[in-house]
Amino acid sequence: GLSAQTKVDIEDQDSLLINRNIYGHFAEHLGRSIYDGLYVGEASDIPNTDGVRNDLIEALKNLQIPILRWPGGCFADTYHWMDGIGPKEDRPTIVNQWWGGVTEDNSFGTHNFLNLCEELGAEPYLAANIGSGTVKEFADWIQYVNHDGTSPMADLRKENGREKSWGVKYWGVGNEMWGCGGNMTPEYYANLYRQYATFMTSWDNETGLYRIASGANVDDYHWTEVLMRDVPHNLIEGVALHSYSFVEWGNKGDAVDFNEAQYFSTMHTALRMEELVTKHSAIMDKYDPKGNIELIVDEWGGWYDVQEDTNPGFLYQQNTMRDAMIAGVSLNIFNNHSKRVKMANLAQTVNVLQAVALTDGAKMLLTPTYHVMEMYKVHQDAKLLPVSFDSPQYSYEGESLPAVSVSASKDDKNVIHISAVNIDSEKENEVEFDLSGFDIDDFDAEILVSDKLQDHNTFDIPEKIIPKQFKDFKFKRGNLKITLPPFSVVVLESK
Ligand code: AHR
Repeated sequence: GLSAQTKVDIEDQDSLLINRNIYGHFAEHLGRSIYDGLYVGEASDIPNTDGVRNDLIEALKNLQIPILRWPGGCFADTYHWMDGIGPKEDRPTIVNQWWGGVTEDNSFGTHNFLNLCEELGAEPYLAANIGSGTVKEFADWIQYVNHDGTSPMADLRKENGREKSWGVKYWGVGNEMWGCGGNMTPEYYANLYRQYATFMTSWDNETGLYRIASGANVDDYHWTEVLMRDVPHNLIEGVALHSYSFVEWGNKGDAVDFNEAQYFSTMHTALRMEELVTKHSAIMDKYDPKGNIELIVDEWGGWYDVQEDTNPGFLYQQNTMRDAMIAGVSLNIFNNHSKRVKMANLAQTVNVLQAVALTDGAKMLLTPTYHVMEMYKVHQDAKLLPVSFDSPQYSYEGESLPAVSVSASKDDKNVIHISAVNIDSEKENEVEFDLSGFDIDDFDAEILVSDKLQDHNTFDIPEKIIPKQFKDFKFKRGNLKITLPPFSVVVLESK
């Protein structure tokens, strides 16, 4: 049935941009993310560029992926970057202690990653080893990738075949320091952060450095409070936050074979991002009222049980319309919080957690999540148009959640984009916008929708779920009315 109509107020404003880095990604040395994912090796039969699959490069370019975080995750605090440079045959191995205990040959290292980012036109975001590394190792890494003169590390880079520095701006000072990064207290980490940040030099590089402190786990507000209070603000540009969507942490359930109760719980954790971002931002406002330090949601996405018969440490999962809902609502939340949220990185790019692509040998498929990110890429660097409305409720067994999620933007050609999501599993929802203040003739629109929430793309039917043209809207005299089908994502573009 059709529930009551929702009226959305939409504001025109001219200053706040949606940072393109909100559409960022994250690729860890985890399972089949790097090895047998992005990187198949130079000798592979699968068409590749320096060992990276061409089909994936193509797909990621099409997403206009703005930034890519690497090499972890938990892996980052075990990684010694020097093991991944120089002739491949001389590189030592590393056992991936967090993810399946597999031995990696370090054939994918700093050069491979930074060259890949260049190829993709994406900013690299390097997460450094604080948990088991040293200040010198970290400082040397920065010198290796960013120093353009004569220096021990710049010389070594040149010996390894790269003349010009890469100019890496974004640096993570450890990852999940409250957990796999070293089980630290925030007070201890804040001191350690100060020490490491002191020795981070941007060299002669014009880009400067953007230093990101390992942030809170979900609602650990004390963590954010201590970092904001104890780290001198001239040493820090970003504070991170990690939050995943799931049914229950200890009982995640199957990625495909889930029921409505499990869907509802997953939506509950996904929508919690609104509260998390609001409350962490409020703490940041208190210590940094001018908003110089930014909130970086550098891990988010859906997390389920691994697919049957796959390595439990590899976190391989399918991706359904449920994931499309997580992506749609999360990206709307980040857009709407553009004042403080300047970057977000979906976990993870390929074959791990909420991936945008899955591979099987030479085959590759793009997930519903990919298509949502593709539809939403129009928001990158556009002006945010703040929206306000009372959402209809999606009710299940006496509990309810806001069913409709919306964000809107205006790009540099004055084209308006509206992204709207209806997470209700059964009800369509009608949404109305007063756009009389804008100069719009009409709209084009696309929708991502499917018959069942559990629907997904397979290697046999890789295009079961793809964006389609959407016509179920009316635009008359500045008034836009859309009917959103159950569990759908719609993006409208003004003409
Ligand atoms: O993305 C998988 C893992 O989740 C990351 O390695 C870690 O940072 C987080 O706990």
